[in-house]
Amino acid sequence: MPKKVQDTGGRIKSGIPGLDKLIGGGFIKGSSILVTGSTGTGKTIFCCQFLWEGLQNGERCMYITFEELPEEIKADAEVFGWDFDKYDKSGKLTLTFKDPFQTTDITTRLENEIRQTGISRVVVDSTSLLGLYFKNPHDIRRELYKLISALKASGATSLLTAEVPEEDGISRFGVEEYVTDGVIYLHYTGIGGEEGSHLQVRKMRRSKIEKGFYPLLFTKNGLKVGKEGISVLMK
Ligand SMILES: Nc1ncnc2c1ncn2[C@@H]1O[C@H](COP(=O)(O)OP(=O)(O)OP(=O)(O)O)[C@@H](O)[C@H]1O
Ligand SMILES: [Mg+2]
Repeated sequence: MPKKVQDTGGRIKSGIPGLDKLIGGGFIKGSSILVTGSTGTGKTIFCCQFLWEGLQNGERCMYITFEELPEEIKADAEVFGWDFDKYDKSGKLTLTFKDPFQTTDITTRLENEIRQTGISRVVVDSTSLLGLYFKNPHDIRRELYKLISALKASGATSLLTAEVPEEDGISRFGVEEYVTDGVIYLHYTGIGGEEGSHLQVRKMRRSKIEKGFYPLLFTKNGLKVGKEGISVLMK
């Protein structure tokens, strides 16, 4: 069974202004959170911002990308002034592209690697790619279960992304939302001709949460959670 996360008062800042107060003050240290939503809703930027917060605090961070190349992730972050390249070069950030075929291999080494290097924040983006490689749903679920269990056992706080078509609910494979400690749903909205995303905290174990839909605003410094009910979606 995946390790149970206790709220012993140790919470870490998400790095996204306006989010921590919706989740009881921040993510519980060592928890594993699913960031889910349809394409282009801001999942990758959300994850970059979470790591940037850690890097600014001197924490070691890891970004495992199954989808975009490391150079593309760096370019995504650069738009908001987050210099991932500097931290990659200094060794504080481990930014690696993995072939989803290698998940079994990754999972077995991940826990040790995170522990030995003292990494405290991890991103896995995107778990949906596993679906391309494992055709059998049973295999996908098993791999995801092992991956999330390894992340939780490592002691690091982790974000996993899943790309899910708007009409298909919150997870692609039907296991991620149960095994993770929290689910943040980025919802695509087009209201009054304006396009944008709304954020909803669907679950956050052992945390008092606000469950409404909040506008997710893109600013020059990254994402920001707006006030509930405001329909200004893009800045
Ligand atoms: N500065 C900005 N202002 C407004 N919107 C922006 C800005 N930067 C990025 N975006 C929006 O964010 C989206 C990309 O965000 P991101 O890559 O994080 O999405 P994603 O959910 O990871 O998508 P995918 O499913 O393709 O991986 C773009 O489609 C764009 O609409
Ligand atoms: Mg993405």
